[in-house]
Amino acid sequence: MPQGAAVPTTSVALSPYSHGRLSLPNRIAFLATVNNLGRNRAITPELVAFYEERARGGAGLVITEGLSVHPTSVPNGTVPLAFDKELVPGFARLADAVHANDRPIVGQLWHVGRQALWNPGMQPWSPSPGRDPYSGSTPHAMTDAEVLEVMDGFAQSARNLADAGFDGVEIHGAHGYLVTQFLSPSSNQRQDRWGGSTTDRSRFVVEIINAIRERCPDDFVVGLKLTAHEYVDGGIDLEEAQAIVSRIVETAPVEYLGVSQANFSPSLEYHVPDLSFDDVPFAHLAAGVREVAAGTPVMAMAKVPDVETGSDLIERGVADLVGMSRAWLSDPHLVRRVERGETPRPCTYCNTCWHYIHTGRPVTCIYAPETGRELEARDEEASPAASEGRRVRVIGAGLAGLETARVASRRGYEVDVYEESSQAGGRLAREADIPGRERMGLATQWLQKAAVREGARVHLGEQVDAEVIREWNADDHVVVAVGAQPVVDDLDGAAAYSLADAWETRAELGGPVVIVDEMEDDPTYAVAISLANDGHEVAVVTRRDAVARNVAYVSRIGVLRRLDEAGVVLHTQLLPVRVDDGVLVARHVFSGKERRLGPVKTIVRAGPLAAARSPVPPGVDAVVVGDASAPRPYEAVFREAHTVAAHLDRIQP
Ligand SMILES: Cc1cc2nc3c(=O)[nH]c(=O)nc-3n(C[C@H](O)[C@H](O)[C@H](O)COP(=O)(O)O)c2cc1C
Ligand code: SF4
Repeated sequence: MPQGAAVPTTSVALSPYSHGRLSLPNRIAFLATVNNLGRNRAITPELVAFYEERARGGAGLVITEGLSVHPTSVPNGTVPLAFDKELVPGFARLADAVHANDRPIVGQLWHVGRQALWNPGMQPWSPSPGRDPYSGSTPHAMTDAEVLEVMDGFAQSARNLADAGFDGVEIHGAHGYLVTQFLSPSSNQRQDRWGGSTTDRSRFVVEIINAIRERCPDDFVVGLKLTAHEYVDGGIDLEEAQAIVSRIVETAPVEYLGVSQANFSPSLEYHVPDLSFDDVPFAHLAAGVREVAAGTPVMAMAKVPDVETGSDLIERGVADLVGMSRAWLSDPHLVRRVERGETPRPCTYCNTCWHYIHTGRPVTCIYAPETGRELEARDEEASPAASEGRRVRVIGAGLAGLETARVASRRGYEVDVYEESSQAGGRLAREADIPGRERMGLATQWLQKAAVREGARVHLGEQVDAEVIREWNADDHVVVAVGAQPVVDDLDGAAAYSLADAWETRAELGGPVVIVDEMEDDPTYAVAISLANDGHEVAVVTRRDAVARNVAYVSRIGVLRRLDEAGVVLHTQLLPVRVDDGVLVARHVFSGKERRLGPVKTIVRAGPLAAARSPVPPGVDAVVVGDASAPRPYEAVFREAHTVAAHLDRIQP
């Protein structure tokens, strides 16, 4: 069965699940996902709608994003404060919205500890004073009284959420935050009762669990998300995680154990595995934890791409429950779609969503129109349908053209899409041809099928020119989505290739190859790595002070690792100016000093892009969308096309 395909609703993952205090309508949870939709540290209508949509979409358990448990853990103003009693009414609105869809909700309790992330100005607390490898902050080593104070923060936060009507909490013991910092021998060097042996390092979380039990109702669920392998020297490995879990199930049993991996160090690459990883790359960790969990339900996670794979994990005894985050961002109605026999919008695992939240922006998805703007999307759904017989002509079947076609058809327009090449998908489909980027193709495949299912006619290999366009009915909406083309200026002394041409003719390229990087995005580095792996000498030159600025940091680690492994040389803050006798000369962007970088045979221009020429003749009204209006990242192009198509009735042809 193809990835993301509909599965029978008899699937074990979609059957109800009960165990002790846990009672779930199905076994597919929506994992904790920071969304930056909170404001002033409180719950907003946008944030409620974000969760409500996943509850409506059939999540078996809704787990909120990390909620702050103490004033020393307030990463930014979008993180809601669970420890603040004043905010209980807002949390109650959230719980009510999820319950209205018959779904349970637990709040994730989070203390960042020394991993101060977005607010290093705050005083970071940690069990020991060792410097944090990600934020670079050096923490204050907590006193005994401060340890007890933070534990009380966890318990009070749980109580507040219980008062708000939540079904339970999940303690965030993963990803290198405060609870992991206590559990891990690499960050906890204390000699008192909070450090040393596994028993002593586990005391912090064990006592938090017990304190929550004391403060909350009997039927209140307590889950624990753990890092079962930190992938750092001297850190928690699976064996140590098993020892920790054995201690917890013996002394402070929980309702479920979520099994995650890595922390915010170089192992961050594993934390939200991207498209370069195989599916379910860390299932062995869940299986290992389940061996010692003494019957406590275990939740597997990390790149579980679809419900069918989730069912397989359960059937093979790897886990009892399955958690997904990004698959619910790319399709908020994941489970409902499967139940209806439809194919959910598959996640490409590009990590753009993660990039957005870690750069302080509301969560988004490259091609899910609702994600991060659920309220607006509801208004769009409610906007009036097209009057009968209205027609839309879309020129170009890239990301923007396909989304325009999908939405316009859904709204009742008769839609024709004209694409001059033999393949739909444009820039995104071309990216999917590069090794390591194949999964990006799922986005355009899904969009094309969805547009056709809604009734759009996609004419591939059909070019339209001014003459054809003039013959169209003047009442037709004309949408220009012809995309963009690379700007390929030759260098003084050497001809240049575009990235796409270099890739297509790679067998004949002469080396050494220099790629002039103006895109700072994944396809450039994927081509560089492939060319180097094919035996070329490859260098990347950028005018920026670092490469890969447009790659999510969590994926950038893998990009930089693969570039280094392939032997690609990186030059920063330089602009190539000419080739002298086969040697590339570049100028420093700030000092203006020139330097000779070494021999070069092939110059490749990776961007910039320029909008392609519209074929629409003067006198014909048209709307220009996507790269054709201004080349931008996928999510911006997609969003614009979606909005235009959703409001076509307001545009007079
Ligand atoms: C945008 C985003 C925000 C996240 N926020 C949290 C969080 O608040 N707490 C947490 O424990 N994990 C967080 N994670 C990690 C996920 O819960 C999950 O462990 C990880 O993404 C792997 O699951 P997936 O492959 O289904 O996305 C986040 C992941 C993403 C992509
Ligand atoms: S932005 Fe990329 S990784 Fe995130 S949900 Fe969308 S497709 Fe998946």
